[in-house]
Amino acid sequence: MKQIALTGIKPTGQPHIGNYLGMIKPALELAEDRQALYFIADYHAVTTVKNKKELQDLTHQAAATWLALGLNPDEVIFYRQSDIPEVFELTWVLACFTAKGLLNRAHAYKAIVDDNLAAGRETDKGINAGLFTYPVLMAADILLFGTHIVPVGLDQQQHLEVTRDVAIAFNKNYGNVLTVPEAVIRKGVMTIPGLDGRKMSKSYNNVIPIFAQPNQIRNQVRRIVTDSKRPEEPKDPDECNVFAIYRHFADAAAVAAKRRLYLDGGLGYGDMKKELLELLEATFAAKRDTYNELMENRDELDKVLQQGAEKAREIAVPVLRKVRKAVGV
Ligand code: TRP
Repeated sequence: MKQIALTGIKPTGQPHIGNYLGMIKPALELAEDRQALYFIADYHAVTTVKNKKELQDLTHQAAATWLALGLNPDEVIFYRQSDIPEVFELTWVLACFTAKGLLNRAHAYKAIVDDNLAAGRETDKGINAGLFTYPVLMAADILLFGTHIVPVGLDQQQHLEVTRDVAIAFNKNYGNVLTVPEAVIRKGVMTIPGLDGRKMSKSYNNVIPIFAQPNQIRNQVRRIVTDSKRPEEPKDPDECNVFAIYRHFADAAAVAAKRRLYLDGGLGYGDMKKELLELLEATFAAKRDTYNELMENRDELDKVLQQGAEKAREIAVPVLRKVRKAVGV
């Protein structure tokens, strides 16, 4: 049997090339020789997104993004978390095996508590119980499918530790029912620098969006910060924010040639930006069209996700049945 790889996608809106290189592309590669289950964690989003239309838009955007960037729904089981009722039944059972102290120490929760305390507010001000129990829902997402590996960013490592702890506690009580998963943590090497050289992130306003109009992308590429060296001066490619992005999209021979040109002198930043822009267009123009088409056919998107949910439930239902039997309900 193939290994099961599962990951949840938080619906966060328009993706940028850092998301693509850091998460989407590696996840699609990982799916090539495993049974992958990738889903949109829309109920997790409800901890913060309380507007109906916003939630639906974000969910559709996430679905269209992954499909446009190459997820094949005939191979990857691709679904919406909220379409799998078994997840929520399992969440309760797992909650009964989750030490509350573990949740008290969860980074995301603790960060808000610390902010509250620093500002002299009540400890749990503004924190709903959904946010507090977020890691339990995540454990259910994973354990419901007998998942072997979970590809995630470093920020999710603690959540995976909670998942493993809960599975082990459950198994200790009832015997070997749940598969204890391994995290596959994406390393920082794929952290993509943004326009200003800091990590590309929406919160730094330094991103290159994938599906924006070409002129918007052009404006962003123009904004990439460089030093003021003249074309004829030798430059260090590893110090250049343009090169740092370019090298992920050009082929190896082109990257090597550019590296030489930086070192020898003769390269102008303006020309380099133009080439980067052309590369980005070549990589993403057709995908942008697909994305736009999908966003205009939301019924179609929903259908793809629902078909994915049916396949996912074929795996989930027997696992939940085993869990219920073990518990005695
Ligand atoms: N919490 C994850 C994030 O913020 C999203 C997520 C939800 C997830 N459920 C999951 C990731 C299950 C991996 C497995 O990115």
